[in-house]
Amino acid sequence: MFRCLAGETIQKVGEEVLLQGWINTRRDHGKIMFLDLRDRSGIVQLVVSGSGLERPEGLTPSAEDVIEVVGLIKERPASMVNPKLETGTVEVEVKKLTILSKAKELPFPIDTDGYDLDEEIRLKYRYLDLRRARLNNNIRLRSKFVQLIRSFLFRNNFIEIETPHLSQSTPEGSRDFLVPSRLQAGKFYALPQSPQQYKQLLMVAGFERYFQIAKCFRDEDLRSDRGFEHTQIDIEMSFVEREDVMRILEEMMIEVFEAMGEKIKQKPFPVLTYQEAIQRFGSDKFDLRSEEEKKGNVKAFAWVVDFPFFEKDKIDKWTFTHNPFSNPKKEFTSDLLAKRNIDKILTSQYDLICNGFEVGGGSIRSHDPKVLQSVFEIMSYGKSEIIKKFGHMLKAFTYGAPPHGGCAFGVERLMMIIAREKYLREVVAFPQTSGGKTSVMDAPSEVAEDQLQELGIRLVNET
Ligand code: AMO
Repeated sequence: MFRCLAGETIQKVGEEVLLQGWINTRRDHGKIMFLDLRDRSGIVQLVVSGSGLERPEGLTPSAEDVIEVVGLIKERPASMVNPKLETGTVEVEVKKLTILSKAKELPFPIDTDGYDLDEEIRLKYRYLDLRRARLNNNIRLRSKFVQLIRSFLFRNNFIEIETPHLSQSTPEGSRDFLVPSRLQAGKFYALPQSPQQYKQLLMVAGFERYFQIAKCFRDEDLRSDRGFEHTQIDIEMSFVEREDVMRILEEMMIEVFEAMGEKIKQKPFPVLTYQEAIQRFGSDKFDLRSEEEKKGNVKAFAWVVDFPFFEKDKIDKWTFTHNPFSNPKKEFTSDLLAKRNIDKILTSQYDLICNGFEVGGGSIRSHDPKVLQSVFEIMSYGKSEIIKKFGHMLKAFTYGAPPHGGCAFGVERLMMIIAREKYLREVVAFPQTSGGKTSVMDAPSEVAEDQLQELGIRLVNET
């Protein structure tokens, strides 16, 4: 007998079927027992009576047991219809019930939204937390979202290319996560803060339209919308100007958000300069929604452009505001090359804002090695350091580099907006705690002495 899903039962009235899943709830009335069976498609009510109830001690079906039943699907009498359940017009009269896997009592209830539970315990038992309808739904929504993104990009002739995780540091303004090398003890890989350099190299390679659903790793202070790991919809295109990239990205966002049933406040998206944003809102991450629109869950997108390229860091040195690989706006190229009026130089950067979050950002890149070199010089990098860290990019640009630009969107931030969640962990299957501990498995953790030895690492014990 083939497995029938709970959601399919309404089309199979009168048929004997095999169902498998979890017991969502049990109501025991002695002579008759009602079980709600849950599977990936939804819930259906089972009715167990007569010989179905007879079973050895300790084998009474209870909540969260995994069971298999053979039963007859029956129309419910009108008075028993449950309008809250998609399958509320039917029930399954159980002929045979087998417990495939008994469940202990769960450490917390899963029939609530779970917001009131302690984060540590939720993440320790994340595989149970994920049974919660809210989270289950968020994870499914995320999958649908990524599928729609992929569909748009493939239709628009982008190709999906993976880039390495074990690599060299690429500056995105955070600390790197380092991975020690065993074969070259004393040396380290860095996990990518983004695939920025690789995607640019793919443009030099001639792919013209690249994308990747890319994992990025940043050792930064955690916040509600910031994780050690996040996923980017990472995009790069050749032979484009700023407006070409913004147009296609905007088309993608509108198509995907509308396909997800979301309402967008203003199309085309308003474009504000950084200066306008600061003057009007005091911030470049502003929320354009009225109170009414907030309640109606409208999505207000906006672009911010014309950011300063450089700002002073804590020790009064120039650093990039967004991305060192960006081109300045054309009219500032000569100033950048001459390293003058540095505070006035504007970058080709564009950020996409939605409901007060920065959901994405990108720029037109420098494909002229002189421009890139000059950026690093303004940031007080010495010649040898530039060659060591970025020589490969400068060299690549000497072999025929097309003008190119791109962008990356934060999948978690977009999902937080779509799922109306305040925390990144609510849209990630296995997130880290706010203290940086992993879900379920206890990392970071100590490693065996011989592992360290193999890597040529000795720990410095604090006294
Ligand atoms: P940027 O650093 O702005 O740009 O990152 C792009 C987008 O990724 C999301 N994001 C994060 N989400 C969760 N946790 C984090 N720690 C985190 N950091 C970033 C944000 C952000 O807008 N290489 C460039 C992109 C480019 O120029 O093409 C980059 O990574 O939504």
